[in-house]
Amino acid sequence: MMELAGKHLVLGLSGGIACYKSAELVRLLTQAGASVQVVMTEAATQFITPTTMQALSGRAVYTDQWDAREGNNMAHINLSREADAILIAPCSADFIARLAQGRSDELLSLLCLARPTERVPLLLAPAMNREMWAHPATQRNLAQVAQDGATVLGVGCGAQACGEVGDGRMLEAAELLQALIAFFTPKHLAGQRVLITAGPTFEAIDPVRGITNLSSGKMGFAIARAAQEAGAEVTLVAGPVHLPTPPGVRRINVQSAQNMLAAVEEQARAATVFIATAAVADWRPAQAAAQKIKKDGSGSTPTLAFVENPDILAAVAQSPRARAGQLYCVGFAAESENLLQHASAKRQRKGVPLLVGNIGPATFGQDDNALLLIDAQGHRELPRASKRVLAQQLVVEIARRLTRTQTP
Ligand code: CTP
Repeated sequence: MMELAGKHLVLGLSGGIACYKSAELVRLLTQAGASVQVVMTEAATQFITPTTMQALSGRAVYTDQWDAREGNNMAHINLSREADAILIAPCSADFIARLAQGRSDELLSLLCLARPTERVPLLLAPAMNREMWAHPATQRNLAQVAQDGATVLGVGCGAQACGEVGDGRMLEAAELLQALIAFFTPKHLAGQRVLITAGPTFEAIDPVRGITNLSSGKMGFAIARAAQEAGAEVTLVAGPVHLPTPPGVRRINVQSAQNMLAAVEEQARAATVFIATAAVADWRPAQAAAQKIKKDGSGSTPTLAFVENPDILAAVAQSPRARAGQLYCVGFAAESENLLQHASAKRQRKGVPLLVGNIGPATFGQDDNALLLIDAQGHRELPRASKRVLAQQLVVEIARRLTRTQTP
């Protein structure tokens, strides 16, 4: 997916061992459709060569403020005005200090200072030793550059090139790509607190066995990511799945439908949107055995009795905040046939303003899907696409309905 199509980025490298990650970053950015102009400080050229960065970006690298290739000999002006954003990765402690002071005696800090601040955002991906990161001078400088309008991305934690372990590693290239995509996403859900359920539930039979289903959680996780990128504060209540938590999303892991209900009821108090994508088990064993159920050698089989699980979506949709229009509820319907008819009936039954239908067996575990949106106005299809694209489209659809319906 060309998620950065049409974007022109200046990628600035200052001196740090993390320069090796910037080679991979250029590849990911260009694969995502961006054009990338690399600018390196002299220190950066000690860690990776301009030749490598030129080959990967397809453009000659700038390292010198006196670069005579520019007709007007003003590389700092030209480069900073062409860019949709400037990303400094790695951004060294020294470079942060230079930005904080407004220094401009070499090309990269010069072009950062010369950028039109209101239309060319500056993003920083710090990279340094943990002691340098924790030093009050660095933190003071970071606070200053953030106040001056730069967006400071986080740092990773872990083993550092120097052999120490702690905070200060540069984010991985894939994380930086995601951060840039998020940065450019329109903030349709700014100010919203979105609560999402995802994945299957697991209903215990005994301590080693249980009943679950084939839901992968992919749709719910994709919606969590898209909602976060659109500016929402996102809480994801996830059944047992092994998917990575999208950046910036708060995740609460649960097992059973009852666990999920408890977590959701707690979190729903502060939410403004609830999206139920979880494939909650309809029934659970009436009694989970405390010990493993053993064969007794007679060939007889155990008999399991079931009780119905609470309907989480219906419970939330009936809550006073939902009924007062302060919590917008979105349900999903996994059907195997007659999608429009079944999903419309489900919307009424669950009492939700928006219900999203899909054909369950065709989508479980897959990376793509097709959705049918049903609300009081009628229905609309989101044709087959990746769950990522559908999640982004759904977020826009929900945001549009919120502006119509939500009361403060
Ligand atoms: N749901 C829920 N709690 C349940 C069952 C379902 O919150 N105990 C939510 C799902 O997350 C989904 C919607 O309700 O958003 C519909 O789920 P689905 O399984 O399609 O519907 P059911 O209510 O189980 O109806 P049926 O099995 O009869 O189709």
